[in-house]
This record gives sequence, structure tokens and C-alpha cells, in this order.
Amino acid sequence: MARMPKYDLVSIEDLPIPEIERIFTLADAFAENLRTGSPCTQASGLIMATLFYEPSTRTRLSFESAMHRLGGSVISSADMQASSAAKGESLADTARVVSAYADLIVVRHPYDGAARVAAEYAAVPVINAGDGSREHPTQTLCDLYILRRKKGHLKGLTVAICGDLKFGRTVHSLIYALARFGANIVAVPYGGMDVPAYVLERVAAERNYKLATVTIDELKSSLAGGLDALYLTPSAPHQMALFTDENPLEKVPAARPPAALDAFYVTRLQRERMAEKDRPPGGYVHFDARALRTSRTQEAVVMHPLPRTDELAYELDTDPRAVYFEQSAAGVPVRMALIAWMLERAGAGEMPRPEVREAPIKFKGDPAPRCANASCITRNEGPYLTPRFRLARSANRSVLALRCDFCERELRVEYVGHATTRRYYHFDENLYGYVRQWIEDGALAVFDTVKEAEERGYEPYKRGPQREIMNAAEIARACQTMAAQVIADANDPTSLAIVGVISRGAMLAVRIRDLIEADTGVRPPCAALDVYGGGAALRAIDGADSFDVDGRTIVLVDDVINSGWTVQRAMTALWQRGRPAAVKLAVLIDRGHRAVPIRPNYVGRSIPTARADRVQVRLGASAPADTKKISDRVVLYSMVESIRESESLQ
Ligand code: CP
Repeated sequence: MARMPKYDLVSIEDLPIPEIERIFTLADAFAENLRTGSPCTQASGLIMATLFYEPSTRTRLSFESAMHRLGGSVISSADMQASSAAKGESLADTARVVSAYADLIVVRHPYDGAARVAAEYAAVPVINAGDGSREHPTQTLCDLYILRRKKGHLKGLTVAICGDLKFGRTVHSLIYALARFGANIVAVPYGGMDVPAYVLERVAAERNYKLATVTIDELKSSLAGGLDALYLTPSAPHQMALFTDENPLEKVPAARPPAALDAFYVTRLQRERMAEKDRPPGGYVHFDARALRTSRTQEAVVMHPLPRTDELAYELDTDPRAVYFEQSAAGVPVRMALIAWMLERAGAGEMPRPEVREAPIKFKGDPAPRCANASCITRNEGPYLTPRFRLARSANRSVLALRCDFCERELRVEYVGHATTRRYYHFDENLYGYVRQWIEDGALAVFDTVKEAEERGYEPYKRGPQREIMNAAEIARACQTMAAQVIADANDPTSLAIVGVISRGAMLAVRIRDLIEADTGVRPPCAALDVYGGGAALRAIDGADSFDVDGRTIVLVDDVINSGWTVQRAMTALWQRGRPAAVKLAVLIDRGHRAVPIRPNYVGRSIPTARADRVQVRLGASAPADTKKISDRVVLYSMVESIRESESLQ
């Protein structure tokens, strides 16, 4: 029996061009076998598992058909809600377990980067059948296969990709592949649904490729024939002037009529990936036969990964230029070819080597930052999956951007720290060289906010003179006022629960809880929430075993609110633990530089501050037990942030 190699297809970029060409050659042969009914046995004795955490018609059924046609067998979880995933089993455990039942896993998952996780934990090869809005490499194989069959080649073709280019995973894989094959891509996004920056940066950095982007109206008016040339500023080597006779690419077959569009690739609006409020108003793209009636488009084929919704008129279906059902039919021979190619290469001991990549950044002694993408698998799988980052591809040194190793999104870092000196800095261009060195030394720490840096025990690099803005008596009065307001707002004090953000928010939470108890005789449960530790731990204060948020009115307490990021994280953590009746926010100090729309219900004092100011709340109990008691106070000082290039930072 043949053995499957541990070769994972997570991205279309995992397949070198000659291997894609070989897969197409095999697909031609399998298409012929299917036509003539000749049996195939390449996968005889092998089992493929299909794990679909999202619905599918084409991908799952054509993969399963392909495996059966190759003489193999299939075990399938077509709806992972009917599997132990519904009981909370992690993707990693599922991948490990299923590795013992199958020789190959095909996985579809709603979260970006999930296929990489499955590949890393599975002992058998994993093929990505679509991971969130990131990639769908085998759809691209089907797309390229049909496009090449229709046009005879891929290099130099001009392909207009229309619709939801933001969430459409088939589009992202297609862009990577067309860029490598030397096609000209014209992105035609539907209002705001642009190709994501991380996709553009990848093709720019790795392929020196820049897409042309036009609006739907610009495309329409150029097709109407009014324009002889819709110039899209060329950027070497692959961007060209669209609909002109000018073609900077070499070796484009001379037989092809110039100045024409070769394909429209239309996509559906990925409604399932966006909140109702983010859905574009009005109608979506509607593509009908009129688009093919111009001299510039009469040779164009119409492609779509399917399923379609309203974006493709049914009247197109009988037009021989409509090839979308051929794309979906190609799913069987192309996926047969992919499996057979893996076996063929393994048999010859010639699997393509995975790309050698820079090692991920180590965050020694500090937790890795959270990925900025809420749909990243690292944000949705639980603490076993540590976020992993590399430096972003961007050459802009004035911004420190890290790239998530799973979903590829960028995380822009505002504050950096050195793990040995325990100093933190506001990032600017002068720090870039130092940060590179800290990455090499494993000494980089990153923070969303100054507060996070200080909670983790980092001190500012430099600090200006301090000024007291609240003393102990004023802090006590502020706590009393907030506690009284909480009581006045609560219909039933027994429904209250107090949660403080570690560390000073938690100390204030205990004080407010004690004041509520003194006034009402009811002692609300109280917990401390660590939003910066992995997993956002919620720990009951006063020795209680558990802390229940369901149905309660939670008073979330923090010492200072500024950007609002800390509170937003805390709210998310609370909602992940249950369904409170309400969450109200109490803060001792409101600085008012909000980056997210959060307004506290109870405020001790509002203090307008400059951005470079730091407000630090010092509370008596924050002193170590063996030192003299620190009196409560709030101080304000200026952080002197600018770093000269010549300065030694260690
Ligand atoms: N094109 C595609 O992936 O279709 P399914 O969602 O039906 O698998």
C-alpha cells in the first residue's frame, strides 16, 4: 500500500509552479479516465478524513469523490457540530486523534489560520479546504486548471477579480497564484471590500507584484467603449495599462488579441464573515450578459468559485464563456491529481521542501501579544495555542508591525520593552535597529498600552517630574461616591458582582465591594480579572471557589481609562465566561483619549491629560508587606519618550 507523505497544503504558495503544472498534467489524465470509465487505484488502501467545520458542497464532495475514484476510502465529519468539537474538543486534539484513523485530513474551518494549526498537530498530511477568509488553495487549483484550459496559458492573461475581495478566501489564493504565473490582476472590489493589506504586501514583498485596482464604475465605463485606455499606473513587472495595446510582459503569445480582458472572476459576498452592521448597504455586484458584449470582453470567460447568490445572472449559464460549472466539475480530476501527485512525489522521495522561514519571535518571560484579528484561530481556540509572530514584511521602519504566523494579519505595536532591563519605550523609527537586536536576543516585549507595560513590571525609559493629582482622602471620597451610585442604580444589590482589573482595579473593586456591604448589608461576590495573562483569568477574591457572571449586574472596576483597550479586553473576557444581565464600568480616573467607544458609568475624576502624560494610581496595599506603607495617591508625570539613535539603551 502506498503511504501518504507528511506534506501539508495550507497555502497555494506551498506548491511550486512546476508541481502545479505536474498536477494539471495528472488532472488531464484523470479527466480522461473519468470520461472513459477507466478505474484508478493510486490511493487503494488509503483513508481520507474530511473535517468540515463549515458547510460545503463542492469541496467536500469532490474531495470525497476523488478519493473514491482513486480506489481509497473516506471517513467524513460533514458537520463538526455533530462531532466532539461541539463538546469543546480543540482543533489540535481533533487533528491528533483523526491522524490515527486516516492517512490524509482535509479540513475546512471558519477561523483564519486554522489549517496551519491542524497541519502542525496532525501526524498525517493536512489539506486546507478553506480557512476563514484566508485561503482556499485547492479551489485555486481548479480555477487555474480551467482558466489555462480555456486560454491555453496563464502568463500574461488579464483577469478582473470582482466583488468581495476582502473576505473571499478563494480570491486570496488566486491572487498569489496568478501573480506567480505572471498574469495581470485587476481588482474590482465591491464598495470597501478591498483586497486585504496583508495579501497585497505578500505579493509585493515576495513577487515584486502590484495589483491594479479599479472601481466597478471605472470598469463599467471602460467596457462601455468610451475609453480607449483606462490607465492603471504600471508598477514593474506585472501591472499593465488595462485595455490598451501596451503590454510590458514578454513572451505573451502573439495570437492573443491585445487590449482585452481574458476573464472575469466574480465572487459572492461572504455574509457569514461580517457582522450585519458591516454589510455594504444597497445591492451587491450583479453580473449579466451585457458585460460580455463589448469588443474588449467578448473573449472573456466568466468564472466563479460557487456557490453563487445574486451576483451572477442565470441567463449566463448557457453561454459557452460561462465556465463556473466546469470549475466545480474540475474539482474531481484536480483533487485526484493532487492526491496522486503527493503519492507520486513521496514514492520518488521528492516532496517539495517547505519554505525556510525566519524563526518566530520569542517573547521570553512575557506572554506573546494577542493577534489583532478577531477571526484568527489563536483568538478562538484556547490557551494551548500560543500566538506566534514574525516581523511584518513592510519596509516602513517608522511603524513596528508584527505578522501573525497563523492568519498573517499585521499587529501594529505602539509600546515595546526590553525583557532584561524592564524598560518600556514608545516605538519610533530610531528604535527599529534596537528592536531587531532585541528580537535576536529574545528580549523583545510588546504592549498595547502603557498600563499593560507597567502592570507587567516595566518602567518607562525616562520619566519627567511627578505631580500629585489626588490624595488619599480624595481617592476614598471618590470610591464612596461611586459605591453610592452603584447602590442607587441597582434595583437589587444581591444581583451585583464586582470585578476588578488586576492589579489596581482589583484593589479598588474590593474597596467598592466593602463600601456596598457597609451600606446595604449585602456582600457582593468579587473577582480579579487578569487581562494580560494568557487566557484572561478570572479569579474569585476572598477564597470563593468560583465566580459566576450569568444573570448578574457586573460592575467592572479599573483604576484609569484612557484608550479603552484594557476595558474592551475585560468585557470580552467577561462575555466569554457567561451572560451577565449588564456590565457597568467604574473607573477612578478618566483620561479621555478613547480609541474605542466605551464610556464609564461611574467616574471618580475626569482628568484631561496630554498623550505623553502618565497617570499612575498608587494604593496603600500595593506596597510589599515588608516595606513602609505607601499612602494612596494619584500622580501625573510626563514620559520623556524620544530616543536618540546614538543612545545606549541597555
Ligand atoms: N467553491 C467552494 O469552496 O464551494 P463549497 O463551499 O461548496 O465547497
